[in-house]
Amino acid sequence: MNNEFIKVEHHEAAGFTKDEQGKWVEPYKFIFIADPQPGLIDVCHKGDGSKWQAEILNMNEAVTAINKMQPRPKFLLIGGDITNAFPGRQYHPEQVRDVRQAFSSLDSTIPMFVASGNHDLDDKPTMKTMEIYRQSFGDEYYTFWFGGVFYIVISSQCIVSPDGTGSLYQVQEAWLEEQLEMALSSSCKHVVLFMHIPPFADHPDEPDFYFSIPKDHRFKLLEQFADAGIKKVFSGHLHRNAGGVWTRKNPDESVSKVEVVASSSLGQQLGQDKAGVRVVRVLEKEITHSYYPLAEIPSQ
Ligand SMILES: [Fe+2]
Repeated sequence: MNNEFIKVEHHEAAGFTKDEQGKWVEPYKFIFIADPQPGLIDVCHKGDGSKWQAEILNMNEAVTAINKMQPRPKFLLIGGDITNAFPGRQYHPEQVRDVRQAFSSLDSTIPMFVASGNHDLDDKPTMKTMEIYRQSFGDEYYTFWFGGVFYIVISSQCIVSPDGTGSLYQVQEAWLEEQLEMALSSSCKHVVLFMHIPPFADHPDEPDFYFSIPKDHRFKLLEQFADAGIKKVFSGHLHRNAGGVWTRKNPDESVSKVEVVASSSLGQQLGQDKAGVRVVRVLEKEITHSYYPLAEIPSQ
């Protein structure tokens, strides 16, 4: 087996366009993994981030468990912080290499997508760090379709820290508006959004802090997502399981609900969870999901 991360170009994943994957066939599941982030466990144990065997063991264990799943998940998406080292810094190339190596053993019938986290673009992204990311992983914002469902991946770092990236914030914003309009006019079963930093961690009204999208962007995004019929947003960044539901009463008395799912890390934990993966079940009328610690990933 020699699986590879899909490197998206032109903001649309080849092989996963509406023409190719726009039709609903049957329920399926996919795997969402947050923050494998090799090197952080060492840093949290007062190391210099030069060791990441513990995270690689976790990745290997996850891959082995996912390979045993029947039926197979239809795809896997890593929701950012693929590495701990920032692009252009010490250990970054080696960590990218080792993550690729670990996931290369995933069943080659399972496509692997990525979303960019703050550690993938830098806390303060620049043209240079963006270029390093793109050379490895392709576009930092893009769409793909699978089995009649429209998936949108955006770069949260270009929202929270746009200063060094030229007009990227505005470019992504205009692109996102186009995609959300398309979502509304398409006949997809669901629209699902992935972004590394969650719109909120525990409550929509929580004050701004490092682990969520600041309020001046948070509510605009949530309104946009609700307008487009998005009901699920999958994120990471917190290294613990969190999230919640934002609700909006509409003029016609209907209620829009956007669930933000912040999934814990496959590596270092910052809460009470254990390292694991999230299994997302895509049904015709709804999407459900469960987080499984590594030792409890079900094969059925
Ligand atoms: Fe992060």
